Amino acid sequence: MTYQFPEGFWWGSAASGPQTEGTFPGDKKGPSIWDYWYEQEPEKFFDRVGPEKTSQVYKRYKEDIQLMKETGHNTFRTSIQWSRLIPAGTGEVNQEAVAFYHDYFDELIANGIEPFVNLYHFDMPMALQEKGGWLSRETVEAYVVFAKTCFELFGTKVKKWFTHNEPIVPIEGGYLYQFHYPNEINMKHAVQAGFHETLASAKAIKEYHALELGGEIGIILNLTPSYPRDEANPEDVKAAQIADAFFNRSFLDPAVKGTFPEELVTIIKELDMIPEHEAEDLVIIQENTIDLLGINYYQPRRIMAKETPIDHTNGPLPDDYFDNYDKPDKKMNPYRGWEIYEKGIYDILTNTRENYGNIKCYISENGMGVEGEERFVNDEGIIEDDYRIEFVKEHLKYVHQAIQEGTNCVGYHMWTCMDNWSWTNAYKNRYGFISVDLNHDAKRTIKKSGRWYKEVSDNNGF
Ligand code: BG6
Repeated sequence: MTYQFPEGFWWGSAASGPQTEGTFPGDKKGPSIWDYWYEQEPEKFFDRVGPEKTSQVYKRYKEDIQLMKETGHNTFRTSIQWSRLIPAGTGEVNQEAVAFYHDYFDELIANGIEPFVNLYHFDMPMALQEKGGWLSRETVEAYVVFAKTCFELFGTKVKKWFTHNEPIVPIEGGYLYQFHYPNEINMKHAVQAGFHETLASAKAIKEYHALELGGEIGIILNLTPSYPRDEANPEDVKAAQIADAFFNRSFLDPAVKGTFPEELVTIIKELDMIPEHEAEDLVIIQENTIDLLGINYYQPRRIMAKETPIDHTNGPLPDDYFDNYDKPDKKMNPYRGWEIYEKGIYDILTNTRENYGNIKCYISENGMGVEGEERFVNDEGIIEDDYRIEFVKEHLKYVHQAIQEGTNCVGYHMWTCMDNWSWTNAYKNRYGFISVDLNHDAKRTIKKSGRWYKEVSDNNGF
């Protein structure tokens, strides 16, 4: 074994409730922003496949958990859909949902797979969105009640909790770049909504710790490293640092250190966009930091000093401070349009070791979405996704190196277990270790990468 991982390493994958469960008659799920947006504009979703038609995990989790076992999972992350558990966002708890999640988590545990549970994966209940979603302080309070309900219901069996998955993404998608409902371009709103997400996270952490359930709570962040075009050019370096403050440290610093990055605060002050808050909010954020950090990594961000004219159409934007740099000869995943840069994962892990107290962390997502995988099916009906094996291997080598150098990284989760619904991309790009055939009753088949992953997990290395 060339790459041996520490004993007890977490091997598994990640998914989310809204991308996998589906909607079924009688399940009493309430609408989230995704159900609403799809109803309004189905043409925005690839092949018009909407959120009700996901991989049917709500009905098929028992079968799926057997497949998780066959692909070497010892841990698995999903999320509780807020709009399933509390259909109106506040108020009555849906007992169908309580029974489903209990059974789902019990089944995982009975099969030797530890459930990791996230509380918010882009899925605002529509009833709360109508009141402003993350812009509203009411949502923060409603979220804390939702979180506490989850801890009380499932906290004796679930010992790893996460307050958010990629909280920057609903900000980018909903308030800056228009790929999540409500699709605004409004930086003031972006700042307010982001602040409320952080406040909600800290308040939920406080509740969790007060309950003394003996588990850990963290947050999952997509820490996209920001590389300057030219390390020797101070303007490029400065631009990359600002992009890093906007997109990484905006959530990483408060989550781990309890404070916001100074550079960001200065910019927000200059723009007169300090979010509405109460004096004690900053104390709550300061005092309630995470136990465990989940790191999602897909691609780096390449940055150069601002050269194009600032576009004032929609008021200030983060992009006023830098330009994206199109690096020639970069390795690409052409389907998703994302650069593949394996060393990025090592740079993130080195950063958490050197600058964030070597906080306990794990890779909570990493993966490769590929379109048209059916063309790789062999005579036995199995997708031979050697490119995915290569992708995981090359990233794992760097994870291994970071661990050798002392980073406290305790696991690796692939995005995702089985092909699932990727928001507006629906089922365009497939990420799973297991394929889902939408034309044949969502039939599941383990891909070559899934079989390979089982060996890696069994050997605790490769
Ligand atoms: C992560 C998310 O950003 O990447 C997932 O946590 C998402 O929800 C995954 O599905 C892959 O990205 P995409 O946009 O191709 O679905």
